[in-house]
Amino acid sequence: MEPTNPNTDEAQKRVFIHTFGCQMNEYDSGKMRAKLAKDGFVSTDEPDQADLILLNTCSVRDKAVVKMHSALGEYRKLKKSGKNVKIGVTGCVAQMEGDALMSRYKDLDMVFGPDGVPHVNTLVSNVMQGNRVADTKFLDLETYPFVTEVDPQSSSGTGAFVTIQKGCDNKCTFCIVPSTRGAEASRPSDQIVQEVRDVVRQGVKEITLIGQNVNSYGLKSAHEITFAQLLYRVAEVSGVERIRYTTSHPRDMGEDVIQAYRDLPQLTSHLHLPVQSGSSRILRRMKRFYTREKYLRVIDALRDARPDIALSTDIIVGFPSETDADFEDTMTLLDEVGFASSFSFKYSPRPGTPALRLKDAVPAEVASARLTRFQARQKELGIRYLQSIQGQVLDVLVEGTSKQDDRVVCGRSSTYVMVNFPGSIDLVGQTVPVTVTKGFTHSCRGERVL
Ligand code: 5AD
Ligand code: SF4
Repeated sequence: MEPTNPNTDEAQKRVFIHTFGCQMNEYDSGKMRAKLAKDGFVSTDEPDQADLILLNTCSVRDKAVVKMHSALGEYRKLKKSGKNVKIGVTGCVAQMEGDALMSRYKDLDMVFGPDGVPHVNTLVSNVMQGNRVADTKFLDLETYPFVTEVDPQSSSGTGAFVTIQKGCDNKCTFCIVPSTRGAEASRPSDQIVQEVRDVVRQGVKEITLIGQNVNSYGLKSAHEITFAQLLYRVAEVSGVERIRYTTSHPRDMGEDVIQAYRDLPQLTSHLHLPVQSGSSRILRRMKRFYTREKYLRVIDALRDARPDIALSTDIIVGFPSETDADFEDTMTLLDEVGFASSFSFKYSPRPGTPALRLKDAVPAEVASARLTRFQARQKELGIRYLQSIQGQVLDVLVEGTSKQDDRVVCGRSSTYVMVNFPGSIDLVGQTVPVTVTKGFTHSCRGERVL
C-alpha cells in the first residue's frame, strides 16, 4: 500500500469563505484563512469543493442581512444534496442573531461573532468532530488576542490591511456596530509595526490601517502612543511607500493628524471622512458630536496641510425626522466640499439601536427620491473631479493588468484615482508617473511619462 502523504489532495481540507461588508470583515476573513491554514485547510473559491463554508456576515443595513440569508440558503442546498460539508455563520449577523440562527437552521453547524476569530481553530475543530458550536462571547479587552498570523492571499498584492483596533466606543444612534463588534481595544503598536514589516517583506507597498474609529487609537490606554504617532512609526518602516487609513470620525480628527499630512509624504492625499449628514440638527440626533461648520473647518485645515487632498464620505438619507431643508443642507455640503466620491445609503432601522426610538420616520419613497438626487449630483461631481485632473501627471502604484486587455495596466494615485494606461505586467508593484489623458465616471485613462 502507498504511504499516505499529508500533502496530497485527499488529506487536504478546503475552506470557502464568503465575505460580506466592510474592510474589517475582509481582514477577519484573511486572518481566519491564515489560522485555518495551520490546521491543513486550503482556501478554495468553489463552494461545492469545500469541506467547510464560512459566511462572514455584515449587519450594518438590512440589505446585507437579506443577502446573507439568501447565500446561506444556496450553501445549505449543497448539504441537502448529500455533500459532506460543514457550514458556519460568522461576523456581525452571527453576533446579533447567534442562537436564533442555530434554532432557525437546524443544519447550521456553527455561529460565532468577530471575537471568535482569534479562536477559530478550536471552534472549527470542534465542528469537524461533529459538534454544533455557538460562541458569541466578547473577549476581555485588556488581553485581547489580536491575530498575528498573516494571510499570504491578502498580503500578496501591492496593498494590505493592518488592523489597529477592534470594536467601537461611539454611540452613533443609527449604528449596530458597537453591539456586533463590542467595545474598543487598541492593538499594541509594536505588534502593528511588526505586521507592517511582515507584509512589506512579502512585497506590499501600501498599508491601510483599519479600525472602526482610528483617530481614537491608543487614547484609552496610558502606555500607548496616539494615532498620529502611530502614523509616524509606520512611515519609518523601510519599504512602506504609502499609508492609508480608515475609518475616521470627524470629531476626533486632531491637529496632530493634520500635521502628519505636512510631515509624511507616505501619507496619501486621500481621506475617507464620513459626514453622514449636512444638517447640524440631524447630526445632533445621530449623536455624531460635530456640526456641519466643524466638519467644514476640518476640511479646510486638511486642505491647508495638503492642498491636493481628495475627499470621500458616507451619507445616510432619510434619517428619522429629516426634513426637505435638512436634506438640502446635505446637498449643499456635497457641493461645498466637492467630494471626489461618496457612499450613500437610505437609513435602515437596526435592531437594538437608539434611533429606533426616534419618531417621524421618513416615508420610504421620500428617502428613495432623496437618495436618487444625491447620487446623481455626486456622479456629476465625481466626473467633474476626474476631468479637472486631465493633463496632470500622477504617480500611479500599479496593481495589475486590466481585465479587458492585458496590454493595459491599472493602479491608483495617492489621491485614490484609478488610472488605466498601456503597460505590461512587470510594472505591477512599481510606482510610475502617468499623465491623465481622459477622466471618466469612476476612473481615468492615461499615458506613462517616459
Ligand atoms: N442605515 C444606513 N446606513 C448606515 N450606515 C451605518 N449604519 C447605517 C444604518 N442603520 C452607514 C454609515 C456608515 C457606513 C459604513 O454605513 O454611513 O458610515
Ligand atoms: Fe458590517 Fe459594520 Fe460589521 Fe463591518 S463592522 S461587517 S460594516 S456591521
